Amino acid sequence: MEYISIGNVKLKKTAALAPMASVADRAYRILCREFGACYTVSELISSKGLCYSDKKTAELCTVTEKERPMALQIFGDDPEFMKRGAEICMSYHPDILDINMGCPVPKVVNNNSGSALMKDPDRAAKIVEAVKSISEVPVTVKFRKGWSRDMVNAVEFAEVMEQAGADAVTVHGRTKDQMYSGSSDMDIIKQVKQAVSIPVIGNGDVDSLSSCLDMYSYTGCDLVMIGRASYGNPFIFREIDCYFDNGEYTPPTVEKRMEIMLYHIELILSQPEKDETRAMREARKHASWYMKGLYGAAAFRNRCYSLETFDDAKRLAEDFLKLQHEHS
Ligand SMILES: Cc1cc2nc3c(=O)[nH]c(=O)nc-3n(C[C@H](O)[C@H](O)[C@H](O)COP(=O)(O)O)c2cc1C
Repeated sequence: MEYISIGNVKLKKTAALAPMASVADRAYRILCREFGACYTVSELISSKGLCYSDKKTAELCTVTEKERPMALQIFGDDPEFMKRGAEICMSYHPDILDINMGCPVPKVVNNNSGSALMKDPDRAAKIVEAVKSISEVPVTVKFRKGWSRDMVNAVEFAEVMEQAGADAVTVHGRTKDQMYSGSSDMDIIKQVKQAVSIPVIGNGDVDSLSSCLDMYSYTGCDLVMIGRASYGNPFIFREIDCYFDNGEYTPPTVEKRMEIMLYHIELILSQPEKDETRAMREARKHASWYMKGLYGAAAFRNRCYSLETFDDAKRLAEDFLKLQHEHS
């Protein structure tokens, strides 16, 4: 097994879980760690929200032992707010502090944050310097290929981030304009890797062990990060971990999928901030993802989206399994 170091943090060189707002919450991160994700990142947290003691702060910033090694990810456009936000994050003891400079969502970019910072490398550098000045842990930056087809600057941007003191960068090979359409460009990740000497985390469209190995070999990146391919599929991390650990991987049966779906829902329900109504509402999309691609999944979608209680989820799993057995 190989390891990489981001500052003083040692990570297994397998695959990390990408930050995903409204998806990769604490329950999701714990689950993916249990399945072998080597590193997790929080949902994006507003630096201004932190400074104004937003009521969601504790929920977003709490780092439990089961999620470590874990980064807290902050966003904002103002170096001073980012510094104060970083200081507040320190009281939650993350392993790494990550700065979001890749989010393409209008609400974020219209405030000159997220990927809008790729258009203003000077400001982005000031933010990294400000956060570094206060952070007790390594500081990383996550960004995209560039703003648009006409403004592809990930390589220069990575160099500026390195000079400003970033301890690693994560690159998603799409521009802001692409949002999530088209495909992620591995060439840009390769070019960034050649340009900087800090670790580079490659991200975008990795959806299997083989595409993970391609990302490593084609780009030379230090670590691979996986987002959407883990929907209803924490197994992807186990497969990658087994490969690097020379272990034997057995793909999950449909029974196993349903067992893990229920375990995932239990984890959501066990989070102290979420009452049953909220937890079950959030569990619905996950339930449907665990069925995706299996026989009859489309017909079960409506049932997933009307789950109200854990008993509903148990009945759903039983009926789905019955259908699979009748079909086989
Ligand atoms: C629902 C969703 C929420 C996301 N939230 C964040 C976020 O909070 N912070 C961030 O840096 N990236 C966020 N991303 C981007 C992912 O971290 C990742 O860069 C992107 O999905 C590409 O990787 P993938 O092809 O493996 O999914 C989000 C993506 C999705 C689909």
